[in-house]
Amino acid sequence: MKKTALIYSFNSNKTKLAAEKIAAEFEKGEVIKVNAEELAEEEFIAFDNYILGVPTWFDGELPNYWDEFVPALEDLNLKGKTFAIFGLGDQKGYPENFADGIGIMTNILENCGGKVIGSTSIDGYSYESSAAVRDGKFMGLVLDQENQARMTKERIKKWVEKLKKDFK
Ligand SMILES: Cc1cc2nc3c(=O)[nH]c(=O)nc-3n(C[C@H](O)[C@H](O)[C@H](O)COP(=O)(O)O)c2cc1C
Repeated sequence: MKKTALIYSFNSNKTKLAAEKIAAEFEKGEVIKVNAEELAEEEFIAFDNYILGVPTWFDGELPNYWDEFVPALEDLNLKGKTFAIFGLGDQKGYPENFADGIGIMTNILENCGGKVIGSTSIDGYSYESSAAVRDGKFMGLVLDQENQARMTKERIKKWVEKLKKDFK
């Protein structure tokens, strides 16, 4: 497996905890942690495989730190690069925008030529609508620390097992 960037906000709460659990599922040195709050295009483009931590904020929007990088991201050619997205959301508090950030980021990456892997089943979640869903599946791993914290460890384990096979 090529080196994988694990990009998330080092100042976040729940996303950071999830990212650390994800990193622990890989061998030492397989993933490189990168702070999403200090991203530069040159650093970003240097990887082939990416795991992005994208929680949903502001009723269905990206967090500030991702929003700030989006204009630079949109100018990049991501052909040949593979992305997997995990996103924190709250299905009871925000049932109409549950984990929308995953869907928003998926569209941006695909528009730049990137490939998004790591879709997961919507079974076991309860919400009204989610921009993270395409063809009946979430386009990444959805974690809900507010309502389903006890499921997080197992969800991460299963997801990472699959990523290890799907990342080249
Ligand atoms: C002001 C605010 C708005 C939020 N909006 C959404 C939302 O639209 N959809 C969603 O699924 N979760 C939403 N959430 C829940 C967060 O995504 C959730 O708490 C997540 O764990 C935050 O991760 P972080 O601590 O790493 O930023 C919102 C939380 C807050 C405080």
